[in-house]
Amino acid sequence: MARPTTVHVCSSCGHEAPRWAGQCTGCGEWNTLVEEVRSAPARGGGGGSGRAGVGGSRGGAAVTPTRLGAVEATEVARLPTGIGELDRVLGGGIVPGSLVLIGGSPGIGKSTLTTMALANLTGAGRKTLYVSAEESAAQIKLRAERLPGAALDIPVIAETDLGAVLATLERERPDVCVVDSVQTLHASELTGAPGSVGQVREVAGEIMRVAKQHRIAVLLVGHVTKEGALAGPRVLEHLVDCVLQFEGERERTYRTLRALKNRFGSTSEAGVFEMRQGGLVEVLDASARFVGEATHAPGSVVLCAMEGSRPLLVEVQALVSQSELVPPRRVVSGIDRNRLALVLAVLTRHGGVALGAADVFVNVVGGVRVDEPGADLAVALAVASAARGVALRGGVNGGARGGRDAQRSGADAQERLQLGGGERTEGAAPGPPLACFGELGLTGELRTVAHPERRIAEAAKFGLGTIVTPEAGTLRAALRSALPAQRRPQAA
Ligand code: TYD
Ligand code: MG
Repeated sequence: MARPTTVHVCSSCGHEAPRWAGQCTGCGEWNTLVEEVRSAPARGGGGGSGRAGVGGSRGGAAVTPTRLGAVEATEVARLPTGIGELDRVLGGGIVPGSLVLIGGSPGIGKSTLTTMALANLTGAGRKTLYVSAEESAAQIKLRAERLPGAALDIPVIAETDLGAVLATLERERPDVCVVDSVQTLHASELTGAPGSVGQVREVAGEIMRVAKQHRIAVLLVGHVTKEGALAGPRVLEHLVDCVLQFEGERERTYRTLRALKNRFGSTSEAGVFEMRQGGLVEVLDASARFVGEATHAPGSVVLCAMEGSRPLLVEVQALVSQSELVPPRRVVSGIDRNRLALVLAVLTRHGGVALGAADVFVNVVGGVRVDEPGADLAVALAVASAARGVALRGGVNGGARGGRDAQRSGADAQERLQLGGGERTEGAAPGPPLACFGELGLTGELRTVAHPERRIAEAAKFGLGTIVTPEAGTLRAALRSALPAQRRPQAA
């Protein structure tokens, strides 16, 4: 067999160069050259699928197409991992022979989650294999000792060489295999360092080839960069069947698992976990906990969010303080920074809340991340409430739900508050907190978001009677119904 050589291929124009360079000499793009294995021109139709044949005829035989209706597709039995939240996000368990990428920042619990899944599968009599290219077998054992179930029965190898891992897969042929992580495995044909684009692509591609051949389901662990993207190339996301993102902050206990791509299920599912002493525990009553912990102080509001198809109540907090910086600080945790910029702009222009000289901090409590436009209104109300130092009006069923309703009963409630509520403005208000959801339009209108009934039902379930919804019509109306009238400067 000829010694395989590598080439550097431009991912923009396809130009090939023998050596890596910062700029492609073909198209002039920067940082586009990626190392690839180039085997000697293959005899017959062999070689990698994506690689162009070098000269000669391809010699393939014609294939007869089949009518889709006549294609035999047997329902595959999924392999349940025994972790309800993970199974749900996967769409009902692991599909045999599938390739699942689990991404997340270091320390979030990827190794713990995959070990627990393998432990359950091992306990259920499945053949499993844990490939660790990051930790020694002793380190994996230390973790497994803390975990419930058959964690200590999982067969492990600690190996960083791709060739050895592939050979082991070929020989062992497990039902499910975990590769932890794709960035630390090393293909010796390539000169690039482990984790480089070329390496990661080669590692994932080769593992996929072997896995599909022997119907081995592979859970591929991947790291996430500081910016939050799955590290390495996005090409990985195209290659695999499912991409799961494990999110949260390491210091916090709550973590969410989300499907970003799923060839066998919905991408709108999400699972909530808590890291405890004995591993990850599914959180089934997340709403109850977050509502129970809500402060109801100025700057606090409960958001009726959707975690996939499941409603979740989370507390959104804001702090507004005089700034000494130009431009002032905008610090977020749990929401998108650009989304905050948009909300603040709309709040200034259409809500009469001026924040040009103030630092604004927004935090979703509990380390939860909400990535949906339905969070806009919660951010706006929390910031407005913080800016004015007035707690939002929650309490008994105030009927703040709809547009017209809200305006009418809002006025009644305002009077009630002015009569009796003078003292409570600085501190936390009594009674259950205010709940809300809705997207903000650029003209100050509130826009409907998915599943309003489910969100309202969830809030009602936890005793939150006052909900501001997009039915309020505009941000201004929502502010009017949610904030007591006094201390509100310009808003009409
Ligand atoms: P780990 O799964 O190693 O994270 P990752 O593979 O994503 O880098 O573990 C994350 C953290 O969880 C680690 O700091 C230790 C902690 N942990 C617990 O709190 N309880 C446990 O039972 C285990 C196994 C880990
Ligand atoms: Mg790990």
